[in-house]
Amino acid sequence: MKRIMFVDDEVRILDGLQRMLRPQRHVWEMAFAPSGQAALQMMEAAPFDVIVSDMRMPGMDGAALLKTVREKYPNVLRIILSGYTELEAALNAVPVAHQFLVKPCDQDTLQSAIERATSLNSILNNKRLESIIGSMQQLPSLPKSCMEMREALADPDSDSHRIASLVERDPAMSAKVLQLVNSAFFGVARNISDINMAITYLGKSILENLVLSVEIFRVFRPTVSIPGFSLEELHTHAQFTAKMAGHVAGDNAIRRLGMVAGLLHDVGKLVLAEATPEHFARAIEGAKKEKRPLYEIEEELTGVSHAEVGAYLLSMWGIPYLIVEAVAHHHHLERVACEKVDLLASVYFANWLAHEHDAERRGAAGIPNAPLNMEIVAKLGVEHLLPEWRLEARNTALDLEGVPHGK
Ligand SMILES: [Fe+2]
Ligand SMILES: [Fe+2]
Repeated sequence: MKRIMFVDDEVRILDGLQRMLRPQRHVWEMAFAPSGQAALQMMEAAPFDVIVSDMRMPGMDGAALLKTVREKYPNVLRIILSGYTELEAALNAVPVAHQFLVKPCDQDTLQSAIERATSLNSILNNKRLESIIGSMQQLPSLPKSCMEMREALADPDSDSHRIASLVERDPAMSAKVLQLVNSAFFGVARNISDINMAITYLGKSILENLVLSVEIFRVFRPTVSIPGFSLEELHTHAQFTAKMAGHVAGDNAIRRLGMVAGLLHDVGKLVLAEATPEHFARAIEGAKKEKRPLYEIEEELTGVSHAEVGAYLLSMWGIPYLIVEAVAHHHHLERVACEKVDLLASVYFANWLAHEHDAERRGAAGIPNAPLNMEIVAKLGVEHLLPEWRLEARNTALDLEGVPHGK
């Protein structure tokens, strides 16, 4: 049974939660603490899986409590349950909370948020992943793109597309902004899966606050340089994959979702580069030496690759499940029963095409691409599309390098 801790200084609210969650007592073991200090004492006495804390409390507030929990028990999933009026304070807690919920919160919402946080699908259910993510403070990102975004936001002539494209070309910023938009604060009833949609729903000024709040606490400290890993290159690869995912998906509803998933698909590499740099460096070195795809070496070393690490993080952030799934399976489409070129397939093919282009460009100096799963290609009946996809990949590469070409 999962052990869940609820913390609120208002006895009335704690009682309400206890009553509301009574039907859950066969599934969860629940504890209710009236203060941060009491919660920490109870956590010292016995381990917990999830903590759901109020934001504003006398003494130790929710942000301080979750910060301590992150330091002492990095594997515990941290959820803030807060009022609308505490938005600003709660935003300060962004680095320490995995999810946000707004009070009053009904049983279904609370239950599904906790379930989403606890019952990830079987491939994400891995202690190693939990501890990698749990020990992270924030994702690294590119300060250069932050600066450009700040300028664009300050410019009254910037239209929302320009701002969206600035946000979207940076996977870490994009993920965090979507996390925030999808957290219950903004009262958006549906899942917001891309930045343009976020601007439509929330307006530029809220987006600006989101972007800035993300920028303030995310600090990439390249204390350890990892041979063979470059943020710039990862950035380009993410954009390449996003563009190709959109192309492979075609003109349909999954196109934009595919692009977001493409942007985010390798976000796990950022996590590993920051959280376990020595280990990540060893994996890259192994891939180069053995001439095998990086994810295979990662899987051999720890049982998980950057795909699962990224998916785990995104799912903790409440990013739409479809995107999480596409990220988790971007090297292993055979894990899912794929019947058509859906979101998962678009990201799989897009990533493969991007890596193929990269492997060609680097030749013997690079890491070889994984073989394309021809069984799946045949099953989906896309063999005849491959030459056209390859051509588009070459054009995409030229686009990203800023080289004009006749499409
Ligand atoms: Fe990957
Ligand atoms: Fe990739």
